[in-house]
Amino acid sequence: MSEPLNLYELEAAAKVKLTQMAWDYYASGADDERCVRRNVEAYEAIRLHYRVLVDVARRELGTTVLGEKLSMPIAVAPTAFHRLAHPDGELASVRGAGDAGTLFILSTLSNTAVEQVVAAASGPVWFQLYVYRDRGATQALVQRVEAAGCRALVLTVDAPLLGRRERDVRNRFGLPPGLGVENLHAAGYAPVPSAGGESGLAAYFADLLDPGLTWDVLPWLRSITKLPIIVKGIVRADDAVRAIAGGAAGVVVSNHGGRQLDASPATIDVLPRIADAVAGRAEILLDGGVRRGADVIKAIALGARAVLVGRPVLWGLASGGREGVAGALGMLRRELDLAMALCGCADVSAITRDLVVP
Ligand code: GLV
Repeated sequence: MSEPLNLYELEAAAKVKLTQMAWDYYASGADDERCVRRNVEAYEAIRLHYRVLVDVARRELGTTVLGEKLSMPIAVAPTAFHRLAHPDGELASVRGAGDAGTLFILSTLSNTAVEQVVAAASGPVWFQLYVYRDRGATQALVQRVEAAGCRALVLTVDAPLLGRRERDVRNRFGLPPGLGVENLHAAGYAPVPSAGGESGLAAYFADLLDPGLTWDVLPWLRSITKLPIIVKGIVRADDAVRAIAGGAAGVVVSNHGGRQLDASPATIDVLPRIADAVAGRAEILLDGGVRRGADVIKAIALGARAVLVGRPVLWGLASGGREGVAGALGMLRRELDLAMALCGCADVSAITRDLVVP
């Protein structure tokens, strides 16, 4: 196969490297997987009304997200179990993100301990948090990631239970021997064994994660950590406003890559409403379906500070470890750079809503 030219070709290259179970786990969504497709397809309906005769001889892609300097408005979304993709797992991913000059968000469900990930990082690392029924274990985890040097918590709120991914049910998904949830050994929550007639991860969620979480989680988290909290998994303007009222420094407009509620709207479709309601009081990130540089422009024009990419990073990781991750991010960066030039945007601040709604 020739060198992948874009993220779709990279995905095809990754597919042949992965076990069926790993491919299905990463690629799949809930139920009919409509939301996975909807997230991508929603970008097709949006046009960019480009400006002409702007000097774009030099372009600056750099930006900041919650004060972190990034080389571009593209960062790495949290995704689970990177050692299913490559033996170097999250270490390769965080190094690849650093090579690309951007932020890495580590999943609670990582196969590598947070201290090792932060030690390998050359850029900022944030930590995606799942709240366990066992609040003591959750508090110990938060203290551990803060001590390790993570600079923000990304609280996932769209997974009181795991969405039903039928491919994982069919495969009886479970982690192979030797792989576990490395940050939760002490609590005894490291193994994710395959379960009887269902996905082992769905069983793990049902047993261990707290389905009774409410907005009270925000004051609780704020009482146990000084880290800024970003609430991830928002698709409604009123929920975004509530998160900010509860002290969140930002929100991630996300439907978990279509892996939770299959009937969720596409994230890019709900972004403008959320941006209007937030009205600059907090930063908004978005994930789900970003596959082209022009998609990044659309998301920023509609109110995102930056986008996160999940699956494309896993495809890079599976294809080529650290270099593969940097390569996937580099592909998107090059496309963004060209799309900015063609839109008449010399820097990220020139990406304004009139590009979409003139
Ligand atoms: C975990 O968060 C998953 O979506 O599988």
